[in-house]
Amino acid sequence: MPKESPILVGLEIGTSKICAAIGEENERGEFTLLGIGQAKSHGVRKGEIVDPAKAQEDVRAALGNAEEQAQVMVRNLFLGVTGRHIEGFNNMGMHPVASDDRLVTAQDVADAANNAKAITLPAEHTILHTIRQRICLDGIEIADKPVGMLGRKVEAHVHVIHGNSLRIQNSMRLVQALSIEVNQPVFNGLANAQAVLSPEDKENGALVIDIGGGATEFVFQQGQAIRQSGVFAIGGDHVSNDIALGLKINIGLAERLKIQHGAAVVGADSRGRSVRLGDDDLGLSQREVSLEHLHRIMSARLQELLELIAERCSEACLLDEARAGVFLSGGCSHIPGIDTLAQRIFRLPVTRATCRNITGNSATLGHPEFATAIGIARYGGMRLRNRPRPRFSLRNVLPFLR
Ligand SMILES: Nc1ncnc2c1ncn2[C@@H]1O[C@H](COP(=O)(O)OP(=O)(O)OP(=O)(O)O)[C@@H](O)[C@H]1O
Ligand SMILES: [Mg+2]
Repeated sequence: MPKESPILVGLEIGTSKICAAIGEENERGEFTLLGIGQAKSHGVRKGEIVDPAKAQEDVRAALGNAEEQAQVMVRNLFLGVTGRHIEGFNNMGMHPVASDDRLVTAQDVADAANNAKAITLPAEHTILHTIRQRICLDGIEIADKPVGMLGRKVEAHVHVIHGNSLRIQNSMRLVQALSIEVNQPVFNGLANAQAVLSPEDKENGALVIDIGGGATEFVFQQGQAIRQSGVFAIGGDHVSNDIALGLKINIGLAERLKIQHGAAVVGADSRGRSVRLGDDDLGLSQREVSLEHLHRIMSARLQELLELIAERCSEACLLDEARAGVFLSGGCSHIPGIDTLAQRIFRLPVTRATCRNITGNSATLGHPEFATAIGIARYGGMRLRNRPRPRFSLRNVLPFLR
């Protein structure tokens, strides 16, 4: 393969599809997408690997597609992770300044930040990301860092995202078995926000929700800080499952009905209307299903999911601060009426997300289901640009196994 320039690769091992994004960044940090490869996913459920052999084959296929498009050979990548084991929460670390006449040093700030990381996690969990929210000196938020100021107490407020280290390791091992190095595992939700929010959206505060096949991630970003994040192991597969149960049809047909005739709200136009199922679908000719019933089933599940997220965000009154509104990505953001449903629940403007501030194939960038993989690559670029550090190693993921 001809090109050997430094490239950024993001890989999402999703429930419905495996997606690899390859891009490059110029010296101004502008990102160009060079290729997107995807393969149908067979070994993943609810965002987690359940059949490693199948998942590995799918990863190989997706990477192969992306390599061909981008004309590069992938040697290392940033790997997206999700699943119900991943959790985000806010924490604060404090460090006292030795005496009233001593100026605050960079070390005081670093000590406060380290104390914020010193938290008790479940034994089998490891920290994926610690994102600084703000630094305060004696309770007053300081624009940058309080270095050189007088004060008694430095406080670092951070958002910590952690997950089960063995499950993260399982995803990493699958990629490493293909002789590809994993630079760092990245929480999918964080990646989505990097792909779909403009710098202005971030400044204004935005809630990004990615509804995939088996998992839904959400992240509330304000400036460079993450204020809230999380995962629910609910996605489009659950919607299809509800349709299959509610209409007493097989799951394949339910999936087709969802895509061809689905909606997230029950509108007046669906009342009294029905869809005829083909003879081959059930062996039952003339079987009809009510469109209103189909939409009611879909709406109930999607409403439940969005309300769970609204509840998590309202704990900290975050929705009042989402001046840029809500951004929906993932395959389920295609469902007609999902923006209307989300507007009702969040009482905020809702945007169906596309990838922003990225150049490349514009058709691809418009697909909300590619946002995660593209965002992972973008996040990788940001990490390398801002903080070139030693490569992520299993030792870092599994400190307790040392
Ligand atoms: N046009 C559409 N209308 C309705 N649903 C759709 C449409 N396109 C895709 N979906 C649904 O989106 C889901 C797949 O989304 P996506 O590709 O984002 O999932 P994934 O990233 O593989 O999964 P996950 O992130 O949950 O592990 C499936 O449930 C699929 O049925
Ligand atoms: Mg996904």
